[in-house]
Amino acid sequence: MSEAAAAPTRLLVRDLAQLATPAPGRAPCRGRALGHVEVLEDAYVLCEGETIVAVGRMRELEPVGGDVEELDGSGRCAIPGLVDCHAHVAFGGNRVEEFSLRAGGASYEELHAAGGGILSTVRATRAVGEDGLRAAVERHRRWMLRHGTTTFEGKSGYGLDRETELASLRAIAAAGGIPTWLGAHAVPPEFADADEYLDFALAEVLPEAAQLAEAADVFVERGAFDAAQARRFLEACRDAGLRLRLHGDQFTEGGAIPLAVELGAASVDHLEATGEEGARRLAASDVTGVLLPASALFLGRPMPPARALVDAGAAVALATDFNPGSAFCESLPLVCSLAATELKLSPAEALTACTVNAAHVLGRAEGLGRIAPGYRADLVLLDAPDWRYLAYHLGGDDVADVVLAGALAELV
Ligand code: NIG
Ligand code: FE
Repeated sequence: MSEAAAAPTRLLVRDLAQLATPAPGRAPCRGRALGHVEVLEDAYVLCEGETIVAVGRMRELEPVGGDVEELDGSGRCAIPGLVDCHAHVAFGGNRVEEFSLRAGGASYEELHAAGGGILSTVRATRAVGEDGLRAAVERHRRWMLRHGTTTFEGKSGYGLDRETELASLRAIAAAGGIPTWLGAHAVPPEFADADEYLDFALAEVLPEAAQLAEAADVFVERGAFDAAQARRFLEACRDAGLRLRLHGDQFTEGGAIPLAVELGAASVDHLEATGEEGARRLAASDVTGVLLPASALFLGRPMPPARALVDAGAAVALATDFNPGSAFCESLPLVCSLAATELKLSPAEALTACTVNAAHVLGRAEGLGRIAPGYRADLVLLDAPDWRYLAYHLGGDDVADVVLAGALAELV
């Protein structure tokens, strides 16, 4: 006879000044629905095991019998755990020297063309070994959690050899991230050109990468991969069962949007160089545009046409683009501030873009990104009188507590 299963742990977050969540509805939220955030004053959230089971106003709270842990939310606001759908977490070394050179006027593209940039991180990443990579990804996960990120995508792309790419994907999964094989990030120096590198990557790395990753990603840009090369890479990855992502229109419009639409990709990310026709095509499609304002800021580049995209009905998400070269920033709250100040999105639009819409990019919008019964119990408690401090407090430090899968997380 089997023993009775232990009752799941219950957690009651009570007396919240506010609870803010994207309103119910289909994901991704588009157009006016992007800004539909429900706010409850004097609220509670009841979690059972890893799942939210009840949400409401304190005066409606029925007596909760049995064992339940309580978390005092007074003076605080709850929002869903943040979802970072674009983060390059697996790398060794740093680019602080390059950052200083850029501050003195050198351009990101010049440094890349001179063998610095991404390729300097490739050298450092190959040198740290799998243990070093695991330690780095784990450190980055902790940084993100402190800023309220409860779900993160992690890209490889700084190994570009078989061993280091696979080690990167394993390290991301070991830290609880959702791995994306960025197998076409740059052409490493041991190959004569992009086509020769792709021959290798598709024959030697894809079969195992497809077992470890959920998605594949390509950097479509001059000096990286053109649209024809990206098509070859993505078609092979799609045939191996991976979801498709593209880095597109970061510096130039290189055909990433039409390719993404044709191949049914989950997202095109960056879009700083996207013009009117590209915005129109993206808005009319099922491809989500992932906006990365911290990257545009860090490189001193134009911001993506976020307002035009949203007003045209495009599905958009917000992410950090955390990486050592173009966005050394793990903070989604800071990204929400930039969304408001630079992209002209309201705090409500920003919240939806980095919760439920970001979860949609990762194929997880059914159970992540809202505070509602049935969703995973991931919550951020802001030490603030209004949830919009998320965007309002530029560079603030308002994340007081994080509930991760129904348990209070240790923020270190
Ligand atoms: O998304 N643009 C391509 N990849 C990264 C930057 C990589 C790097 O500079 O190390 C990005 O911005
Ligand atoms: Fe990126």
